Amino acid sequence: MSKIHNAFTVLMDIPTPIVAAPMAGASGGALAAQASAAGAFGFIGAGYLTSSRIQEELSLARTQLLLSDTDPLSIGVGYLAWQLEKDPSSGAGLLNVSLSNRVQAIWLAFGNNIDRWIDHIRSYDASSGREKKTLIFVQVSSAKEALIAIQDWKVDVLVAQGSESGGHGYSAAPPLLTLVPSILAVLPKDGPPLLAAGGLSTGGHVASLLALGVSGVVLGTRFLMTKESFYNEAQKNVLVMASGNATVRTTAFDRARGTLDWPEGVDGRAIYNKTVKDVDDGVDIEIVRENFNRAIQDRDPDRMLVWAGSGVELVTEIQTTQDVVRELHADMMEHLSFVSTLIAT
Ligand SMILES: Cc1cc2nc3c(=O)[nH]c(=O)nc-3n(C[C@H](O)[C@H](O)[C@H](O)COP(=O)(O)O)c2cc1C
Repeated sequence: MSKIHNAFTVLMDIPTPIVAAPMAGASGGALAAQASAAGAFGFIGAGYLTSSRIQEELSLARTQLLLSDTDPLSIGVGYLAWQLEKDPSSGAGLLNVSLSNRVQAIWLAFGNNIDRWIDHIRSYDASSGREKKTLIFVQVSSAKEALIAIQDWKVDVLVAQGSESGGHGYSAAPPLLTLVPSILAVLPKDGPPLLAAGGLSTGGHVASLLALGVSGVVLGTRFLMTKESFYNEAQKNVLVMASGNATVRTTAFDRARGTLDWPEGVDGRAIYNKTVKDVDDGVDIEIVRENFNRAIQDRDPDRMLVWAGSGVELVTEIQTTQDVVRELHADMMEHLSFVSTLIAT
C-alpha cells in the first residue's frame, strides 16, 4: 500500500490517515481489529459496555491481530465520558480494562470532566512504566473547546466533529468546512494532529479534508455498513436504502429509549422515521416508548433507531471493513494525484 506521510500517520505508525470511529453499540473488537489490520486505525466503542464485555472485545481484537497477551494492542477504545462520570470509581475501572490491555489509544468525548479521565490515564501510564504513552484522542465541536483540549489537557490527537456526523454530537456544531478552518486558525504549529469527522463517505471526501489541512479523518457511518459492525440486518438495510435528506439531528431516540444523561446541547443524527415524527408531533412519550420498544423486537424500520451521518446516501452496499479501508485509500490517492496535476508548472 502506498503511504501518506504526515503528523498523524507517523504518530500512529499507520500507512493511511483513516480512523474507524468508536461507535457505542456498533463497533467492537472485530471492526476495530480489521480496520487496523488494513492500515487504518480502529476503535472499539465502549459506550454502554461493562468491564467484562470490553475485555471480551479487546481479546477478540487481540486474537484477530495475531497478538500475544503481552503485546501492545494496535487499536483504541472510545469512552463516553458522561458514562464514566456517573460513578467515577467504576468509571476508572472501565478505563483500566483498556489500559491494562495496553491499547494504543483512548478516545474521550461527551463529558463535563474529561480532564479527570485524562489525568487518570496519564497517572496509570506513569505508574505502569509503559514504554510508549497511551495516546489520548478528544472529540470537539468548536474552536473554543479545541483550545481547552490543546492548552489545558495537552491531548495527543484532536478530532473536529461537524454537524454532518452520525450518532451523537453537539447540536450547535458547525459543518466541517467551517469547523476545521476555525480550529486550524487557533492550532499552534507544535499542536496535536487534527482529524475531521462527519458525513465523510468516500476517498474523495478524505482527500478534500486533507487538502483543507487536517492530518486525518474519522468515519463512523461508512463503517456501520460493514460485515463486522454490530448493526443488525434490518438496520444495515435501512442504511443501504437511505436517500438524500434521510437523516435528521434529534433527541427523539434518547427520549424514546430513556438515555437522557448526555451533557447539555447534545443530540444525535439518525435516519428520520415515525419515532422522530411522533416526538415532534407531541405524542405522549409513554406511547412513543411502547411503539419504539416493539419496533426493536420486530426490527421495524419505520420506528427503530438507525444512527447515520449525512454521507449515508453515497454508500449502497455492505462490505468487509478491510475492503472499505482499501477502497477509501485507493480512492483518496487517486483524488490527491488528480489535485496535484492542477498546479501549472
Ligand atoms: C452508531 C454510532 C455510534 C457512535 N458512538 C460514539 C461514541 O461512543 N463516542 C463518540 O465519541 N462518538 C460516537 N459516534 C460519533 C463518531 O465518533 C463520529 O464522530 C461520527 O460517526 C462521524 O460521522 P459519520 O458517522 O458521518 O462518519 C458514533 C457514531 C455512530 C454513527
